[in-house]
Formats: sequence, structure tokens, C-alpha cells
Amino acid sequence: MSILVTGGAGFIGSHTCVELINAGYEPIILDNFSNSKRESINRIKEITGKEIRFIECDIRDRKGLDKVFAENDIEAVIHFAGLKCVSESVNEPLMYYDNNIGGTVTLCKAMEAAGCKRMVFSSSATVYGSENPSPMREDMPEGKTTNPYGTTKLYIERILKDLFASDNSWSVCLLRYFNPIGAHKSGKIGEDPKGIPNNLVPYVSQVAVGKLDHLNVCGNDYPTPDGTGVRDYIHVVDLALGHIKAVEKVLKETGCNTYNLGTGKGYSVLDVVKAFEKASGREVKYVIAPRRPGDIAICYSDPSKAKRELGWEATRGIEEMCEDSWRWQSQNPNGY
Ligand code: NAD
Ligand code: UD1
Repeated sequence: MSILVTGGAGFIGSHTCVELINAGYEPIILDNFSNSKRESINRIKEITGKEIRFIECDIRDRKGLDKVFAENDIEAVIHFAGLKCVSESVNEPLMYYDNNIGGTVTLCKAMEAAGCKRMVFSSSATVYGSENPSPMREDMPEGKTTNPYGTTKLYIERILKDLFASDNSWSVCLLRYFNPIGAHKSGKIGEDPKGIPNNLVPYVSQVAVGKLDHLNVCGNDYPTPDGTGVRDYIHVVDLALGHIKAVEKVLKETGCNTYNLGTGKGYSVLDVVKAFEKASGREVKYVIAPRRPGDIAICYSDPSKAKRELGWEATRGIEEMCEDSWRWQSQNPNGY
């Protein structure tokens, strides 16, 4: 059974393809490689021992998409393709709206024309905004997003909900990820950011491996136990397994459902630094820096709906997340 994985060469997509293959599905990767390398696809083959089809195509290319659907028997789409850098989205909002929203609309049109109406979409906890207290629950109102990246996720969720409301034969899962980190146990695939990382764990990894001198801890005056920001870090393999459950759901029944994918536990920036030092045996130097604009103090999930309805829960803890991130980073100090 073929599952089209847009953005499948990226961080979360590559891990999800491995788990799809392990679960007996046939993923077909569609990616324009704007934020990934082809080597990730070779690594998926090395890990699974299976060939994997891939198509270089942009999700805004309607003709290209039509060809993909005409030539393959695609049962469902897992839609990861999107740009994800918050600061870049502030400087280049049109690029984000065009790629993420425009691309999703084009993809949905191609799916509809091909009669393939099952989609699992990569949303983000960023849609909760800053007004909701943690733990975040799916029935809380979406908040005010603080940057164009977050707004694209919020609008795409609305577009997919409107699509289902207009045609109940669609089947959609909106997955709200908390903070994915970690890597596959083999150390062969992982997060490979371009330039200086924006996110905490890729930054910490590069300090530990000696590529960056020190971490800037963005604020130590938040109302949290140690004053630094608290987040719900989730192992990318747990996240990938959540997608397998979501695919099973969209293959089984119609509907439009939203699920948090998180652990329900919060760790501070300094907790992560300590866990990473332990996992790597290296010192992670840091200095306290000003707060980062747009950041909130605390964000963690209530993951109980996914457990109840999808039969999924995260099982990997912060130590394992840091060990696996470190294995990837130390085996691939310059990425792919
Ligand atoms: P990533 O950048 O590693 O993967 C995204 C992939 O999409 C890349 O391979 C990129 O080349 C591809 N892509 C981008 N635009 C495309 C287009 N127009 N056509 C075809 N391919 C395109 O990012 P990731 O961390 O794996 O994230 C995957 C998805 O999950 C994204 O939609 C992201 O916004 C969302 N998400 C990520 C996080 C996170 O912390 N990593 C959190 C919440 C949500
Ligand atoms: C960020 C994005 C979010 C996006 C997610 C995944 C913002 C405001 N939010 O989430 O929209 O979905 O990444 O791409 O950018 N930190 C430091 N020093 C650093 C980097 C981070 O102290 O160099 C702190 C942050 O202040 C925060 C925590 O580490 O408290 C986690 O940050 P990060 O990994 O960037 O994730 P989020 O901000 O939660």
C-alpha cells in the first residue's frame, strides 16, 4: 500500500519513512530538497534494507503532482513538506505563505482530482499561542500566533477543517507536534539544520561536538522552577510511530481529528543541558542571554487524546533523546 510522504527527505519525514517500511507500508517520498539532502534517502535504505521510491517535485507544481497520482496507487498522504524557520518567516512572510499554504492548497486539489482524500498533516503546538495554560489540550481555543510560520500552521488547519466540512468523504488527522528531538538508534539519520541552528537541541549538540563555542540560554527570569523556558521534548521515533497510528486511522475512517503528539512532561533549558552533558560526556558551556522575542515560558502537552483514540503514547525519555541526538551528531559532525 503506497503512502505519499511529502517532505519525506527531511528530519521527521525520514524517520517516519523508516517506521512506515517497518510497519509494512510502501512510502513514496516527494521532496524538492529545499531543506534536505538526497543522502537521507540512501540512509533510509541502509537502515531498512529496502528500496524506497522518491520523486523530486515541489508541492506547488500541480502538473507534477497530477503525474505522481496518475502513476502510483496512493492510498494516503503524510504531508510534512513546509518551511519551518520562525525568524526566516518573519523576514520572508510571502515565501512562507506561498510555500506552506499555497503548496498545501495545490496538494489538496491534486488529491481531490485523483480521488485520494486521506491526509495526515504536520501541525505544531505553536497554534495554541501564548494564552492557553499548559498542559495544552486539543479542545482549547487556538491562540494568537506570533510569527508567519505559526500562522501558516493555523491557517492550514482551518483550510483542512473547511475542506472536510464541505466534503465528509475526506479523512484528515491534524498532528500538533511539541518539540521533536533525538534521532534513529543507528545514528544514520537525524536533524541536519542549515547554518547556525535556531532550535535548542541542535544548538546544544553543536556546542558539545565543538562546532559552536557556547549556548545562549534565552532568558532565566521566566516563572519556571529554574527560570528558563520549559518545553515538551519528544523523541522523533515516538513521533514517527504516532504517524503510523494516524495513517491507520485515516485509512479506516473519514473525519477530521486533531491530536497532540507530546510526552506530557516539561523540561527546562538547563534540564536539557544537563541531560545532554550526561549523554555525551562533554561539557556544554552556556551563558545567560536575553529572552528570545515570541517565546513563552511553559509549553507542554496533554497527550491523553492520542492515547485514547489512536492507541499511541511516547515511551522514550529525555536521556534516550539526548543519547540518540548525540550519536547522530558525533557520527555525522557535519550532517549528511
Ligand atoms: P525539514 O525541513 O527537515 O523537512 C521538511 C521537508 O520538506 C524538507 O525535506 C524540505 O526540503 C521539504 N519541502 C519544503 N518545502 C517543499 C515544497 N514546496 N515542496 C516539496 N518539498 C518541500 O523539517 P521537519 O523538522 O522534518 O518538519 C516536518 C514538518 O513538521 C514541517 O511541516 C514542520 O513545519 C512541521 N513541524 C516541525 C517541528 C519541528 O520542531 N521540527 C515542530 C512542529 C511542526
Ligand atoms: C520553536 C518555534 C516553534 C516551532 C518549533 C519547531 C519559536 C518562538 N518557536 O519552538 O514555532 O514549531 O521551534 O521548529 O521560535 N533556547 C535557548 N537557546 C537557543 C535556542 C532555544 O535558550 O539557542 C530555548 C528557547 O528559549 C525555549 C527552548 O530553548 O525555551 C526551546 O526552544 P526551541 O528549540 O527553539 O523550540 P520552541 O521555541 O519551543
